Amino acid sequence: MATLLVPPPSPTAASPRSSVPPTQSPPIKLPSVAGGGRTLAEYAQFFALDVPALKNRDVLDVAAGPSSFVAEACARGIDAVAVDPRYGSTPDSLATHVQLDDASRRTQLRARPELFRRRAFASCETAEADRRSAAQRFLTDYETHFVHGRYVGGALPRLPFFDNAFDLVLCAHLLFISAKRFELEWQVAACRELVRVSAGEVRVHPVCGADGKPYPKLAALRRELRADGIGSEVVRVDYEFFIGSSAMLVLKKGTS
Ligand SMILES: C[S@@+](CC[C@H](N)C(=O)[O-])C[C@H]1O[C@@H](n2cnc3c(N)ncnc32)[C@H](O)[C@@H]1O
Repeated sequence: MATLLVPPPSPTAASPRSSVPPTQSPPIKLPSVAGGGRTLAEYAQFFALDVPALKNRDVLDVAAGPSSFVAEACARGIDAVAVDPRYGSTPDSLATHVQLDDASRRTQLRARPELFRRRAFASCETAEADRRSAAQRFLTDYETHFVHGRYVGGALPRLPFFDNAFDLVLCAHLLFISAKRFELEWQVAACRELVRVSAGEVRVHPVCGADGKPYPKLAALRRELRADGIGSEVVRVDYEFFIGSSAMLVLKKGTS
């Protein structure tokens, strides 16, 4: 069970989507992590992001985990917020989760090496080093900015944000990849929720399961969303880490 940090309600705290510099706090010893997250550069590839165009835009990273996307995005003037059910835990506890997740990823990689393409990286070692430095950057940023609302505890299919709160909503490596865990009904509810909090687009990556096979209920999911007035499009991206992971699903209100 993760230890909880009680977020102190601070009247002087910055807005959850601001990139106001942090108040100075004494240096703390952060846990070092063996596991990995994903960087803004990797997000930019699998979400086909035009990063400079996102400056001053409100961007939400759902199921952000140990990704450094939000830390790096805020450093570039993007008003980015991350949400994950694990946020609220101490950095130590988060670092332990990162290590456990990483161990399970390595086991998967060893068990099914034929699934991995790693087109995005020169070698497996390069990918691992990149993921480690992303997780370290995330932990440092989380320690400073949790109290400013940059990292919010929350889980699909109910997110703690107002309707249309963000210009762009991203969700990587949760939907479809965990298709065995989540039924179609859950996936539809999660997509609706992502669309609810977005005033613009939602981008979900990848559109396949962890075995690299296309999500088998994609047509049914898109039909249900269309019936709700949510348009969807599968868009190829110039990225592949494991077989099948070269596409994203783009969702938008009011289109078909
Ligand atoms: C594989 S990580 C992906 C991290 C990051 N998005 C990336 O692509 O590197 C999956 C994340 O989903 C989070 N998660 C699990 N269930 C969730 C839910 N119901 N809603 C939102 N996030 C969830 C986990 O805590 C974990 O951090």
